[in-house]
Parts: sequence; structure tokens; C-alpha cells
Amino acid sequence: AAPVRYESENAAISQGAVESNHAGFTGTGFVNYDNVATSSVEYTVNVPSAGQYSLALRYANGTTTSRPLDVAVNGSLVVNDLGFPGTGAWTSYQTVTTTATLAAGTNRIKTTAVVAAGGPNADSLTIDAVGAAATPVA
Ligand code: GCU
Repeated sequence: AAPVRYESENAAISQGAVESNHAGFTGTGFVNYDNVATSSVEYTVNVPSAGQYSLALRYANGTTTSRPLDVAVNGSLVVNDLGFPGTGAWTSYQTVTTTATLAAGTNRIKTTAVVAAGGPNADSLTIDAVGAAATPVA
């Protein structure tokens, strides 16, 4: 299956704002997490079948300090303190990828800041099947 991109500006945002002042994002902008732990972005994604999926988070961090995020799927923590290191500039976007098991249909993927600086600027989340799940049954 082809990867599907979900834009952060269309996600459910808690303690953050949609902004567009740093070029290089896809869609219409990115989410600037408030500079506080617990600020979060929750993406609602849809996949055709249960299995392992890659979660590619595109972001920018113009500081020299990592801004880790906790990643939860459907309310359960799956990755603790996923690192989002500095990208050199707020206009330089990079991608951090992790994997998670998703259920068939709708899943909620929540990325929550864990340090006082908040999260990085969040551009998008791209989902793709990995391993056997990526091969359709003939
Ligand atoms: C700057 C930058 C923002 C960023 C913020 C931060 O203000 O312009 O895009 O979110 O720093 O440190 O979080």
C-alpha cells in the first residue's frame, strides 16, 4: 500500500498553534507546540488491516537540544521519549521514524511533549505498512 500523509495542522492540537512562518512544510503549515511539557498533537489515521506500520514524523527543531515526544497509540504509550534532535534551522525539516502496531480501521496516534521546551515544530505524520503487511494478498 502507498504511504499516507497526515498533516499536523489537521490533527487535534492541545497546547499548540498552527503556524506557517518557517518555509519548507507540506500542506498549509505546521504545529508549533507550546513550550511546555504535555503539549500534544493527536492524529487520527486509518489503515486497511491490523499490523506493523512505520510512523514517520516530519519536523523542524531550530535549537541544538532534542525535543523528545512520547508516542501513544489508541491511549497506550508505545514509544517513550522519541528524540527529535536539532535540524539546524526552523526551516530545515527532517524525519524521525518509529514503528507501531495499528488496528484495522481508525487509530489515534498522539505525540506528547515531555520537556519544558515542548515539542519540535510538527509538519506531518506519514503511515506505511511494514513487513508482511506491506504485501497485498493476491
Ligand atoms: C521560535 C520559532 C518557533 C518555535 C519556537 C520554539 O519562536 O520561531 O517556530 O516553535 O522558537 O522554540 O518552540
